Amino acid sequence: MMAKIVFLSAEGDAQEVEAPEGCSVLDIAHRNGIDIEGACEGQMACSTCHVIVDPAWVSKLPAPCEEEEGLLDLVKGLTQTSRLGCQLTMIEALNGLTLQLPRRKSNLIFED
Ligand code: FES
Repeated sequence: MMAKIVFLSAEGDAQEVEAPEGCSVLDIAHRNGIDIEGACEGQMACSTCHVIVDPAWVSKLPAPCEEEEGLLDLVKGLTQTSRLGCQLTMIEALNGLTLQLPRRKSNLIFED
């Protein structure tokens, strides 16, 4: 059975998608038309792949590295459970992982 991720839109709509092991959350979102930008394509140079992890899942994720924490500090609307989608890799134990998409996009490259 393929693992799943549940994405919750800022408006609260849930979308469950197939999440192959070894793929990043960003890749999985893009394959399924989920609206996460990911401007630097996972190079840890933008922070536009910001996702908010459901608190129930936080303890199951590896802690962010220093570079990820540095970028997260720049995210608008940062939360206690914010992560970069490109740095989260799907594993079987994350089957059912629930992620909230932020309401406001943060973008270091094209400031609005
Ligand atoms: S896609 Fe740019 S930091 Fe994740």
